[in-house]
Amino acid sequence: MCGIVGYIGQRRVVPIILEGLKRLEYRGYDSAGIVFLQDGVLQKYRCEGKLANLEEVMDDVLTNSRVGLGHTRWATHGPPSEANAHPHSDCSGDLVIVHNGIIENYQTLRRELTAKGHVFTSQTDTEVLAHLIEEHLEDDLATAVREAVKKVEGSFALGVMWSKQPDLLVAARYQSPLVLGVHENGTFMASDIPALLPYTRDVIFLDDEEMAVLKADSCQVFRLDDGTAVQKDVQTINWNAGMAEKSGYRHFMLKEIFEQPQAILNTFRGRLNVETGIVDLPEIGLSCEELGGLNRISLVACGTSWHAALVAKYWLEKWVGIPVEVDIASEFRYRRLLLGPDVMVIPISQSGETADTLAGLRLAKQLGSKVISICNVVGSTITRESHGTIYTHAGPEIGVASTKAFTSQLTALFLLTLYLGQVRKTITDEQSQELGRALVDMPNIIEQELPRLQEEMNGIGEAFSRSRDFLYLGRGANFPIALEGALKLKEISYIHAEGYAAGELKHGPIALIDRDMPVLALAPQDSVYRKLISNVEEVKARHGRMILVGSQNDSALHEISEYVIPMPDVHEDLIPLLYTIPLQLLAYQIANLRGCDVDQPRNLAKSVTVE
Ligand code: AGP
Repeated sequence: MCGIVGYIGQRRVVPIILEGLKRLEYRGYDSAGIVFLQDGVLQKYRCEGKLANLEEVMDDVLTNSRVGLGHTRWATHGPPSEANAHPHSDCSGDLVIVHNGIIENYQTLRRELTAKGHVFTSQTDTEVLAHLIEEHLEDDLATAVREAVKKVEGSFALGVMWSKQPDLLVAARYQSPLVLGVHENGTFMASDIPALLPYTRDVIFLDDEEMAVLKADSCQVFRLDDGTAVQKDVQTINWNAGMAEKSGYRHFMLKEIFEQPQAILNTFRGRLNVETGIVDLPEIGLSCEELGGLNRISLVACGTSWHAALVAKYWLEKWVGIPVEVDIASEFRYRRLLLGPDVMVIPISQSGETADTLAGLRLAKQLGSKVISICNVVGSTITRESHGTIYTHAGPEIGVASTKAFTSQLTALFLLTLYLGQVRKTITDEQSQELGRALVDMPNIIEQELPRLQEEMNGIGEAFSRSRDFLYLGRGANFPIALEGALKLKEISYIHAEGYAAGELKHGPIALIDRDMPVLALAPQDSVYRKLISNVEEVKARHGRMILVGSQNDSALHEISEYVIPMPDVHEDLIPLLYTIPLQLLAYQIANLRGCDVDQPRNLAKSVTVE
């Protein structure tokens, strides 16, 4: 996820771009750049690191330019660097582009363009767009953009400038947001509303497969496929700046919960063949022989990322058939490790900076293991020290409580399971198709269920916001989800909550059950359903207050539980991914009702970079 800003009009463009990028930094902040037209020449400035670095450079740049583009980056392809920062140029330097999205077929396009003599200067997927437009450029930028994007697979929100047409900017979008701002003193484009609010509240939302030509006094929208003009309504925004940064959500955590369908889609996009379920993970960087020679997998992580590892153990052992160990990183690094070249060690980390996980990675490398990390931050320390990285494409996760990063980690681990099973031939073609289809369907299912689940969890949150304790139960691959639900609740509402394997109830926790003890159990109709239900009966017999998350087709749940959260039926293996959602929403609602600081809970940091 990145931030784009563009302007053309009567005002000086540099301050508008820099202020707009500042308001979009939550969308990405590992590098930034700006370009404007000065005396017929495009002037481009780019910096690695926070936007403040670019602002410092621009302090010494004097210009009265009235047209330009800016970009703040969240790297997906190519680590953060000045060379990989946007804007990117074509060979001539007369055309520049800023982009938010993922170009899935960029390697193919890059090979074709290189063969035609184009010279690339970055490792990004975006740069291929600049050269592709250059290929189609004759006398009209809008036409060239429209022709070029027909060859693109993936998602894009674009801002494009050509010095030969100094009186216009071109914008285009497909599955990445882009909003236009209109005002008497100029026309704007931006990835999100906050960038526009200081200058105008009158906006036009570009829809998918639409493009726009922005001039100082006009803004025309066209269809991307055939160029026909589209009449768009101007809408007036009444959000304040704070609300707008969260896209109207009260907290980043809630916004990120609702971003999960897109985050899951972006994580499997370009890696999973939706028809066959075949997975391609070249970023692993290991040959089929090396993968075939593995005798063990060792997953190492902390907190929520450790819960993702616990779920993956069930998947990997079920479908790949080799032993999987899961360790909390702070334990892993201090015990005698039996590793070696036949063991693949997989550190999992949203931030890529967690000290204990990094220490575990370094130990694993010393002991000769292959280290393939799963991470959400391109170029973070853990990724730089791994032999390979499978990136989650969740975009920046601002809320301290991890949500979209977690479900994106599960997505990446499911892709890895399919990939290893296909390489080691432990998964049949039919199974690949079935499992791949199940994953492809998840974004839409979650998208549809989120509003209803929020409504239901708001009600249940009301009933339990004054609880002092909470018990979460699960079996099989849903046991880690019980742990995750408990962690979400305790870290943002400060209620003491524990996740337990339901079968462990009789081994101690059942002593806690009384009329004041809420017990949430994950009860899908899976292979251990009957066992789980008998655990629920044990709780009921001791007057525990039951909340059950289970199949919407299971009427029996209402007979044994005070509260039931009905869920759509999905493939058994993906129930953990889906059943996480109501637990996130419950924790959010209870924390809200208790007046807690949801995005920045007490005592916590987003990244634990110390032991
Ligand atoms: C999750 O909600 C917590 N904020 C925390 O447990 C987190 O998952 C843990 O610190 C690991 O962080 P990482 O994924 O960035 O390594």
